[in-house]
Amino acid sequence: MVVPHGDVIVMKEQTSVELFERARRVIPGGVNSPVRAFRSVGGTPLFMTHGEGCRIRDADANEYIDFVNSWGPLILGHRPPRVVAALQAQIAHALTFGTPCEQEVMLAEYAIERIRPSVPSVECMRFVSSGTEAVMSALRLARGHTGRSKIVKFEGCYHGHVDSLLVKAGSGLATAGVPDSAGVPHSFTADTIVLPLDDDAALLDCFAREGAQIAAVIVEPVPANNGLLIQRPEFLELLARLCRENSSLLILDEVISGFRVGFAGASGHYRLQPDLVTYGKIIGGGLPVGAFAGRKIIFESLAPDGPVYQAGTLSGNPMAMTAGLAQLQLLDPEVYRRLEELGSYLQEQFDRLKTGWGMVRLHSIFWLFQGDHAPRRADQISRESMAVYARLHRHALASGIHLAPSGYEVGFLSAPMSTVEVDCLIECLARFFEKERSSQR
Ligand SMILES: Cc1ncc(COP(=O)(O)O)c(C=O)c1O
Repeated sequence: MVVPHGDVIVMKEQTSVELFERARRVIPGGVNSPVRAFRSVGGTPLFMTHGEGCRIRDADANEYIDFVNSWGPLILGHRPPRVVAALQAQIAHALTFGTPCEQEVMLAEYAIERIRPSVPSVECMRFVSSGTEAVMSALRLARGHTGRSKIVKFEGCYHGHVDSLLVKAGSGLATAGVPDSAGVPHSFTADTIVLPLDDDAALLDCFAREGAQIAAVIVEPVPANNGLLIQRPEFLELLARLCRENSSLLILDEVISGFRVGFAGASGHYRLQPDLVTYGKIIGGGLPVGAFAGRKIIFESLAPDGPVYQAGTLSGNPMAMTAGLAQLQLLDPEVYRRLEELGSYLQEQFDRLKTGWGMVRLHSIFWLFQGDHAPRRADQISRESMAVYARLHRHALASGIHLAPSGYEVGFLSAPMSTVEVDCLIECLARFFEKERSSQR
């Protein structure tokens, strides 16, 4: 595939427009997940048809370098040959049985063996079919195990569309300007305590008042759903200490950061020992997989061993497990080294542009923000910058660069990328900010 490079082209969109019209007749809002609807950037959602490596093509044959990567799962890009081959081999055997299969044992063993040297608290793992399910199950397990009901979450962290956590929950909701979801009764969130990120005093105060009732604290250790709000390690350490001292469980939601900022995720990166961890995205190799993992003693409370019920028809099915295992087996230290190198190249090149915007980056996750100081809390993000982002998004698509359709969303580098693709992104950004400057003169 050849991606247009340099000049902004006039995009053909007719097929996507027609498909979206059809979709709107039978699918609410025309999409199966709200941020895809382009509401915050304007225009028609693009219907993609092909992906290969770091490039994708839409239904009108426009081609893009993909910095969305299906919102994170595709750390190895589209259709890595060994993942495809593993799936083709599995298809010859079976799609699903609803019985145990060896593939689920292999994926759990493989992941745990490689996470445990840096995060010994990850002793066992149960598979589900999405990140939302993983979080929902982890919360139930935490409550059932501790016999307590309160959950602490942080403003701007998104943990999937779990009823009790749809409070100050991040990008999709920030984009739609909805602080809370309709359809969630007040009683469902009555036991959810919401605290600001980066605020030691609020955390200390909360534990002083309610510590004995807190079943668990859940946090994205790398908050990446409302911009990229990198936390001070001391804040995360304080959180871990307070959980320990109050016998509350620490749940790290690693649906984005797991296997992304290193094989042991943010738990490994920040040297944290979570009681429970939730995974999704990368662990499924592009198929729908989530997982919750953690200390064996806690999992003794989970059915069938214990009283906390949790189940799933397609949980651990051989196709999804095969894709996940094939992808994880390819994630060696060299892949992470290269991604970090490419990320730091992207950061350097962007900083040299002097756009008046900044880039926050951790490993292969990046996010652009307006201003001089990287926000650490959701309320520090400029809402006005979202209109600029909408123009950037349009400009990027017309330059063959696929960015997320919301300024609150992060971008991802993938392993098939090189400095060639990063240079295309930089050139696109340079032209965009130059155009913005000249329109203000
Ligand atoms: C940190 C985090 N947790 C949970 C979820 C929910 O995962 P899923 O969309 O697979 O249900 C997401 C989704 O983006 C996420 O980023």
